[in-house]
Amino acid sequence: MCGIVGYTGSKEAYPIIIKGLKRLEYRGYDSTGVALLNHGLKVYKKKGKVAELEDALVGQDLHANIGIGHTRWATHGEPSDRNAHPHTSSSGKLAMIHNGIIENYTKLKNELIKNGYFFHSDTDTEVLLNFIEDIKINNNCSLEEAIRVALKRVVGAYVILMIDADDPETIIAARKGSPLVIGIGKGEHFLGSDASPMLEYTKEVVYVNDYELAIVKPGELILKNLGNEKITPFVQKLDIELAAIEKGGYDHFMLKEINEQPDTIFDCLRGRLDADKGTITMAGVGNNIEKFCTASRIIIIACGTSWHAGLVAEYIIEELCRIPVEVEYASEFRYRNPVVHPGDVIVAISQSGETADTLVAIEKAKEKGAFIFGIVNVVGSSIARTSHAGAYTHAGPEIGVASTKTFTAQLAVLTMVALKIAKEKATINEERYMHLLKELHDTPDKVREVLKLSGHIKSLAKKYKDARDFLYLGRGYNFPVALEGALKLKEISYIHAEGYPAAEMKHGPIALVDESLPVVFVATKDSYHEKVVSNMQEIKARKGKVVSVITEGDEMSVSLSNDVMIVPAADEIVAPMLSVVPLQLLAYYIGVLKGCDVDKPRNLAKSVTVE
Ligand code: AGP
Repeated sequence: MCGIVGYTGSKEAYPIIIKGLKRLEYRGYDSTGVALLNHGLKVYKKKGKVAELEDALVGQDLHANIGIGHTRWATHGEPSDRNAHPHTSSSGKLAMIHNGIIENYTKLKNELIKNGYFFHSDTDTEVLLNFIEDIKINNNCSLEEAIRVALKRVVGAYVILMIDADDPETIIAARKGSPLVIGIGKGEHFLGSDASPMLEYTKEVVYVNDYELAIVKPGELILKNLGNEKITPFVQKLDIELAAIEKGGYDHFMLKEINEQPDTIFDCLRGRLDADKGTITMAGVGNNIEKFCTASRIIIIACGTSWHAGLVAEYIIEELCRIPVEVEYASEFRYRNPVVHPGDVIVAISQSGETADTLVAIEKAKEKGAFIFGIVNVVGSSIARTSHAGAYTHAGPEIGVASTKTFTAQLAVLTMVALKIAKEKATINEERYMHLLKELHDTPDKVREVLKLSGHIKSLAKKYKDARDFLYLGRGYNFPVALEGALKLKEISYIHAEGYPAAEMKHGPIALVDESLPVVFVATKDSYHEKVVSNMQEIKARKGKVVSVITEGDEMSVSLSNDVMIVPAADEIVAPMLSVVPLQLLAYYIGVLKGCDVDKPRNLAKSVTVE
């Protein structure tokens, strides 16, 4: 899940590419590189972040009106200068950047070695590049033709951008399984893994589809399929402002995005929820309500934080809609040969809309005749385009690698979906229905209240930042929130943390408890509360440090806890949107206090576009 950027036009390409790579750095930051065409090919690349390459190139002649750039998340070949992209072909005339994985690269590499090729890196990318050049030379054909022939023999996922020293204005790009957006300017074109590198120059974009090739010149964009047939580009207008992808005065995108949640939840409800009239307007659900209401089960497919949102939804949908729900890790579901019947409803949850495991899992379910409903944040992303219907979470661009505002927006959408189905199925009475619409409506203001805990949570972070391990416990709706809290801490601070259903403790993990172990309870008032209080007592009895997220006025939990984070009262169905926020802040402040790069944690990337 690398970041790719390209530019061809009349402006200086280098500054545009470097700025674009910085915007895409959340996709991977193991190494960086650019290739420029100016009377020949110039390639500059280095292990490390974009800023490190930039510093190394100060004073160099970087003039060029065409170039490609890459920020890497290593898959084949460790992070190093020689494995950094762009790679140059054996002739030295072609340069290529790649996002994805070529699964049959070993076989191709052996063929090329037999033909005398030598490789400078361990990457699958350099193999594909030389494979393309080999076809070009042997068939004496154009680069475009060679790419088409080569891609028909490639197995895997890719976005590739190529430039040729003999063709000083053209970038050739191709896509399968990884995202590619082309920005249309006046006499110039921009290419990127998403729209952020081009947002300040144009709002006119084309989302390239799988098995499409783009031949891009300053004043011309040609789209073709691998069968060499022309395709009319479908130009869309971006509805994102530049400010949305800036830090807006916050130290980190993660803190900005945590603090945006009152607005992002509101934006997610706006135009959909009318708590006074008692209506929920969601065309994607409304137009397919029959499928939902007659579904014998709903299968939720997702990864990471989105999977945790799916787990909360399991509790909500089963309670309100009385439809059995299974929550599947996409990576397991896609290989398990699952039993899927035609008409089964699949709900695919993804912030980026590009997560490879989720994308392939829904393709598999689609082949078996399932109905795919996507819940996605990134407009125009692959999962949004491959789903039969869906709902956007409208949380705006999320730059911090750790998902925060999109988790609460996913919960808001899932709760509205469940309420709409329950209303239609009459599995909820009018009073409860109206009450929950009111609870949803009031959630943004309650989250605003929770954010006032920031200072207090920062002091708790100081107190617990040196703990070696953490346990997060919750029951019912709060169990997935405990999992999410643990994931946030792991991602951001690199502290080992585990989330568990609180009652599971006595079946083993309680052996871990001693005075050095902080045990975070997600214990807001709900139908499980009494039980979770006794779990607190179990931990207390073994001298564990009890740190609790509780509902205002819950004196019992205060008395059992070493430290508390108090949130406003709310119905148990919407409470996860409140109780997760203190956990996001705790992870953030511990990460900052430990000097971690909280927006770009080690070994991670924002959207996992490879297996
Ligand atoms: C969460 O903070 C992580 N970024 C990660 O677990 C993420 O949730 C997962 O990769 C799924 O991503 P998606 O929602 O974009 O599909």
